[in-house]
Amino acid sequence: MPSVPIPQLPSLALSKTVTANTDVLVVGLGEQGAAGVPDVLDKAYAKRFGNGVAEMAALLGAKSKAGAVATLPAAGDGPRIIVVGLGDGDPTPEDLRRAAGVGVRHASSLAEVSTLSVCLSLGGDEPEELRAVAEGALLGSYVYAPISSTVAPVKIDAITVLGSAGRAAPDPDIATTARTVAGAVLTAREWVNIPPNLLYPDSLAEEVKALVKDAKITTEVLDEKALERAGYGGLLAVGAGSSRPPRLVRLSYAPRGATFHLALVGKGITFDSGGLNIKPGEGMYTMKCDMAGAATVLAATHAIARLGLKVKVTTYGALAENLPSDTAYRPSDVLTMYGGKTVENGNSDAEGRLVMADALVRALEDSPDLIVDVATLTGAVIVALGDRTAGLMASDDLTADRILDAAEAAGEDFWQLPIPKEIRPKLESKVADLRSTSGERSGGALVAAAFLRDFVGDTPWAHLDIAGPAFFEGSPFGYVGPGGTGMGVRTLVALAASLQPKNLGLKNPGPKTLSG
Ligand code: BES
Ligand code: MN
Ligand code: ZN
Repeated sequence: MPSVPIPQLPSLALSKTVTANTDVLVVGLGEQGAAGVPDVLDKAYAKRFGNGVAEMAALLGAKSKAGAVATLPAAGDGPRIIVVGLGDGDPTPEDLRRAAGVGVRHASSLAEVSTLSVCLSLGGDEPEELRAVAEGALLGSYVYAPISSTVAPVKIDAITVLGSAGRAAPDPDIATTARTVAGAVLTAREWVNIPPNLLYPDSLAEEVKALVKDAKITTEVLDEKALERAGYGGLLAVGAGSSRPPRLVRLSYAPRGATFHLALVGKGITFDSGGLNIKPGEGMYTMKCDMAGAATVLAATHAIARLGLKVKVTTYGALAENLPSDTAYRPSDVLTMYGGKTVENGNSDAEGRLVMADALVRALEDSPDLIVDVATLTGAVIVALGDRTAGLMASDDLTADRILDAAEAAGEDFWQLPIPKEIRPKLESKVADLRSTSGERSGGALVAAAFLRDFVGDTPWAHLDIAGPAFFEGSPFGYVGPGGTGMGVRTLVALAASLQPKNLGLKNPGPKTLSG
């Protein structure tokens, strides 16, 4: 089993003053001018250049547009200054998170040294603003390290977030929350980025076990023999083409005082070749990302437990590798799923819904109050919503709103899609209880959701199709670089926070978590 180190987070501190060893200071520029420039620095600047930081920024062409970034010289032996745009109006926590990410990514590109200490001062002073800056900085510091004996990327090793000097020292819990949440996002990213020869069902299960050791989580992993004994026909069929057998990972976090039971289910296809319905080369290349749903729910569960949120969480990762071979499952095979329903396989590239169906039925046995599944399920959702927005489908609007509120608090983008009642008849089969595909191209994301809905009974359920935003191939923006994004982790943590008794919220929540 190759051991895959979890990415080392930079150290994170909150401070009232710029620390002495700071290499780079990131400040904000909004419509109203520079934000967060420490007084001492402004004075040092005026003395050396005859202009304050804001004037210098303007002279050097710094812009307040979101995503804009400019570099200013250091005044004497002080830090270099990076000016990041904060956009129009009052920046939201997500604006700050992105601006911090831009600043930190730019800092690593400037470095002549191998390690950097970065301080951020973007003007916000509320707990949720400081937390957002810290999260954005941690997320922006991540790069997937090449597996190489010669190349080593610049490492951001220390991040300091400045609160205004006028206030009492910022609450250290903010840093703990930010580190825990960002750490979970980066774990999900790392798992997605690890090449699929190194990360496969068994090795991912081992990584999960190692990760959750430091939390009050009990772990169970079903191997192929256990899956056979219990009749997990979906996982077994999808995994049958690979010499690396499937796994079902179960995590349980049951804190005292919880009144709500949340179940999470994630699609964990460690590589999706399409199976016998093999994908064309260009569509296959990025399919190591097809376990992003499992990575998201498993990493989020770790964060929820580490934060000690008062909500019971039971999480499943349905792990398999979808490959063509003489043992692979065929189109037209009839599978008996966990729980006994039969499914005619319409297309071996529609593998995700099969492993998810097994895991959803298993999750129902725990009698949760709400099931949320996360999956890179369909290409169709990318056609519909692009690569920044995830699709949300739900059993009812109250459940959909719960997710949308959590997503808004977390700064992630979801858009609700319907499951029209005309869809289900398209899944009728002549040889089984239902078919896995409709055989049409239209409404692919909704068809997949309609299939899953057959397996969740009356339990409130939300389905998050993250096929677009889970893996990013465009040019970097905000705190997102190339590869796995960890999309969904922050929303699930915010959701769990909102399901605590009397809605305790996170200690340092996003704006909506406390009220919502
Ligand atoms: N893993 C893919 C969906 C996907 C596509 C994720 C692109 C991320 C980026 C999924 O298993 C798949 O192949 N879906 C098929 C379903 C079809 C055969 C009904 C699709 O969307 O084409
Ligand atoms: Mn597929
Ligand atoms: Zn897939």
